[in-house]
Amino acid sequence: MRFEIVTIFPGFFAGFFENGIVRRALAEGLVTVGVHDLRAFTHDRHRTVDDRPFGGGEGMVLKAEPLAEALESLGIRPRAEQPCQGTTSVVPPLPQNDAGALAPEGMLLAANVHRPTAILLSAQGRRFTQAIARDLSHLDRAVLICGRYEGVDERVNQLYCDMELSIGDYVLSGGELAAAVVMDATMRLIPGVLGNEASGEFESFGVSDAEIASNIEGVPRSQHGSGGLLDYPHYTRPAEFGGLRAPEVLMNGDHLEIRRWRREQQLRKTLANRPDLLEGAAMSAEDRRLLDAIRREGR
Ligand code: 6GU
Repeated sequence: MRFEIVTIFPGFFAGFFENGIVRRALAEGLVTVGVHDLRAFTHDRHRTVDDRPFGGGEGMVLKAEPLAEALESLGIRPRAEQPCQGTTSVVPPLPQNDAGALAPEGMLLAANVHRPTAILLSAQGRRFTQAIARDLSHLDRAVLICGRYEGVDERVNQLYCDMELSIGDYVLSGGELAAAVVMDATMRLIPGVLGNEASGEFESFGVSDAEIASNIEGVPRSQHGSGGLLDYPHYTRPAEFGGLRAPEVLMNGDHLEIRRWRREQQLRKTLANRPDLLEGAAMSAEDRRLLDAIRREGR
């Protein structure tokens, strides 16, 4: 997969590319990146990328022309003429399912045959989820456009972008951190990028998140909040640290007991930190009994 990043801070990504899994994915050629300095697509003496907002207000807006030129240089053509009068959006929302995945499956892939997928990172975007990361990981090429200042001229979004993504409900100074987040989450789903091929294997079986809760031995695998529960807590040596012993159950080798304990911990963690996830999580009758018992403890 190839990522193209359009940014006014090309130096921002150096550390991200030089460490850990990202570095290895790049070294092995599983992922390639191009970083494009937006200022290279300006033509005035001051290399102007922003201007004051029409209608007044705080801050500056990234201008349309340099962004359009950058995107066209990456093979992204503007959509057919759109009616540009009026106040409502003329870009139909992409279809998506409850998990936030883009639907129908393969739609992005089909769209990607002739044209890379253009993604605008902005606080006004749809919330980035594991389901979206999975969709993106099937693309050949994604262009990540880092918004800055108070925003990006909306016509760039209308004419060139396939989606607008936000990484969460808080305000960042720009889309660069968000682009790194999207690349990291997407990259690790590409077969071969993680040391083991686990995620790739599961992907190729087309199993949903709810169904990959256990590995071959029946010990639950981490689901990383991908439409399931939060992960269970992890421990490694030493067995005692800071006066706290690691749970004995993890050291007796009884896989059934370990599985039960981990599942209970997942339910406890999710109830405490992300009760909203319990709504959509796949749960057995046993899970529900356990959850009720845990809830009663709290009263
Ligand atoms: Cl993608 N951009 C900005 N500026 N703020 C954000 C964001 C993106 N996602 C969450 N907050």
